[in-house]
Amino acid sequence: MPLTDQFGRTATDLRVSLTDRCNLRCAYCMPAEGLDWLPKPELLTDDELVRAVGVAVAMLGIREVRFTGGEPLLRRGLPGIVERVAGLLPRPEISLTTNGIGLDRLAGPLRAAGLDRINVSLDTLSRETFVQLARRDRLDDVLAGLKAAASAGMTPVKVNAVLMRGVNDQEAPALLRFCLEHGYQLRFIEQMPLDAQHGWRRAEMVTADEVLAALSTEFTLTPDDPAGRGSAPAECFLVDGGPERVGIIGSVTRPFCGACDRIRLTADGQLRNCLFATAESDLRTPLRAGASDDELAAVWQRCIRAKLPGHGINDPDFLQPARPMSAIGG
Ligand code: 5AD
Ligand code: SF4
Repeated sequence: MPLTDQFGRTATDLRVSLTDRCNLRCAYCMPAEGLDWLPKPELLTDDELVRAVGVAVAMLGIREVRFTGGEPLLRRGLPGIVERVAGLLPRPEISLTTNGIGLDRLAGPLRAAGLDRINVSLDTLSRETFVQLARRDRLDDVLAGLKAAASAGMTPVKVNAVLMRGVNDQEAPALLRFCLEHGYQLRFIEQMPLDAQHGWRRAEMVTADEVLAALSTEFTLTPDDPAGRGSAPAECFLVDGGPERVGIIGSVTRPFCGACDRIRLTADGQLRNCLFATAESDLRTPLRAGASDDELAAVWQRCIRAKLPGHGINDPDFLQPARPMSAIGG
């Protein structure tokens, strides 16, 4: 039975957070001092995680599994997890969203384990700005990780960038130039109200329109076949006539909830039907209580039936979810 909600959307894309920990402290995500990490016993074990994903793939029509965090490369035994998920039938597409730190060593093993695609976060090319934004001096590690991902054949490597006003908002053209040179596919993501410190302010968000305007000072952008967008959140533009493209994800000003095909599993085994959901469905308790596959599938179905039509960020009574992005998975 597919995971279809009350509004006719079907979830086929599962995001799995493997840990809430991170080795960066991006200002749009975490406070400088970090967060109280989940205690280890609360995290799903590898076996529990593979069982949960297995039910989703075999019984519920999940076709794509994306691993996220926190920082998923911090999860021990990640290549082993990827390999086991790649062994599920029908084999799902497997992808990873990472900050790139440690990828120089892990790209090869992950590729060999069956990882198909990778997204690396890169918000700036300036070492000083990186330190200001991510509060760690790790730009070189990220760049090395990007290179390794491309060498390992996970092409096209995608790059995610979030712009913050007064911090890196002047860098849109430079980031695009860099990605074009290296053959990376760049996407800008509007900053969403998901930071742990609740510091998001609408007026400070760099909008999709502003990113377009900034890029247009140096490049000619033409919309790329809107019919081909499907459920992809990024609006794609051809750069200087193509074939290179740039994507802009206007989560706030151009919401795409109507086409959403996602569902999420947190590192501690809670199902979420939306990044912005205020409720979760507990999968860990039945997993640990010896539930059957049918019983687990029923929890997934209950979760998707409760999915709301949209994230409501633009409603006056919007409430930020209790958990931050790093505990939900991007
Ligand atoms: N708004 C938008 N994007 C965010 N990311 C993390 N926090 C936010 C936020 N508040 C991005 C990261 C990474 C992906 C998982 O989501 O930069 O690319
Ligand atoms: Fe870490 Fe990603 Fe959050 Fe940055 S955005 S602190 S890399 S989890």
